[in-house]
Amino acid sequence: MKTRRQFPDLRFILPLINWGLPKFNNKSLLSKVVLIQDFKEIAARKVPKAVYDYVEGGAHQEVSLQRSADAFSRVEFQPNVLCDISKIDTTVEIFGKRISIPVIFAPTGYTRLMHHSGEIAVAEIAKKNNLIYCLSTMGTTAPDELALAVPNARLWFQFYLMKDRDASVKMIQRAQKHGFEVLILTVDTPVSGIRARDIRNGLTIPPRIGIKTLFDMAKKPQWWLNLLTTAPLEFAAFRGYNEPLAQIAAKIYDSSLNYDDITWLRTVWDGPIIVKGVQSISDAEKLADIGVSAIVLSNHGGRQLDKGPVILELLPKVVEKVGHRIDVFVDGGFMTGQDVVAAIAFGAKAVLVGRAYLYGIMAAGSDGVQKVVDILSSEISNTMALMGVSSIREIKPEHVKLRNS
Ligand code: LAC
Repeated sequence: MKTRRQFPDLRFILPLINWGLPKFNNKSLLSKVVLIQDFKEIAARKVPKAVYDYVEGGAHQEVSLQRSADAFSRVEFQPNVLCDISKIDTTVEIFGKRISIPVIFAPTGYTRLMHHSGEIAVAEIAKKNNLIYCLSTMGTTAPDELALAVPNARLWFQFYLMKDRDASVKMIQRAQKHGFEVLILTVDTPVSGIRARDIRNGLTIPPRIGIKTLFDMAKKPQWWLNLLTTAPLEFAAFRGYNEPLAQIAAKIYDSSLNYDDITWLRTVWDGPIIVKGVQSISDAEKLADIGVSAIVLSNHGGRQLDKGPVILELLPKVVEKVGHRIDVFVDGGFMTGQDVVAAIAFGAKAVLVGRAYLYGIMAAGSDGVQKVVDILSSEISNTMALMGVSSIREIKPEHVKLRNS
């Protein structure tokens, strides 16, 4: 059939044209972001290479990082159709209270290095969206400062048990006094992982200013201006260090950490204790026996032991053994709502995300973090709808499998 053509009719065309001049603010920047991975390119433009690499990188040859990404790409959902999904409930109950999606803001070190608004901005977005924020011991905001800045937020405190036990007790008591609800003890760092990118980049906190830095300042003026005109960057919980990461870590991490310490910690911290960094079924069973409230299966985002187990593959095996006794959380490179739904199907209670919101904050400060939450929320509910489930509780192991390739 021959298509009949006509002259363009301006009445129909004019309303379709966007007459606005291009704007260079966060709103126009963020309108181009559809997936969380879209943040990466913007983030890389905004912060110095050493900072970007610190977020993106892993330990050694980064094999764990690649294998996690590969596992996410092997997820295959098993959907059902003709289910009434007109109402989707993405909420989940964590320690007696609901959060809006099964996502927790993971502890991340040095967040004010990524963006001067740092931990406080992220915790504010967590509160606004009815989510939990977990502050890192290696944070650039102290626990009491954060609690005062963001009152009534749900805050957890991530903790490294230090060689100095008295200092450890003082630190966690300070967090407890300021209303931190849960203590997350990280146990996969008896020593620091070998972070090749950070070593090559000579990353220090605060960054040293040398000739190379001056060139960088010319390329990232806004980041440097923010760094130099806001409160000094420091490990707020341990004031006064200025050494490469590995040396600081050596002071903070206690390489003698063992199971007895966890039993002892239960007498010191009066609330739920979560142990983060578990990578085996046997450790998960021992920790359930000791009576911790939950574990986080984690390879520290591929930043500690390289070539360890793939967390998404380990998850269903661990849940089968201990899931009836303790909650099992998971983390490590989760970048989409689909990955979150897959982890829930494999039995995770919720997923901790770190890098995802760090890309957001590097790119656009707290607006970027909000956009990350918006993307994750809509991807989670979209995936649930297309899978035929209307609540988190209904997501079951039969909804997902990992393909061999
Ligand atoms: C890291 C530490 C701070 O992964 O947890 O860099």
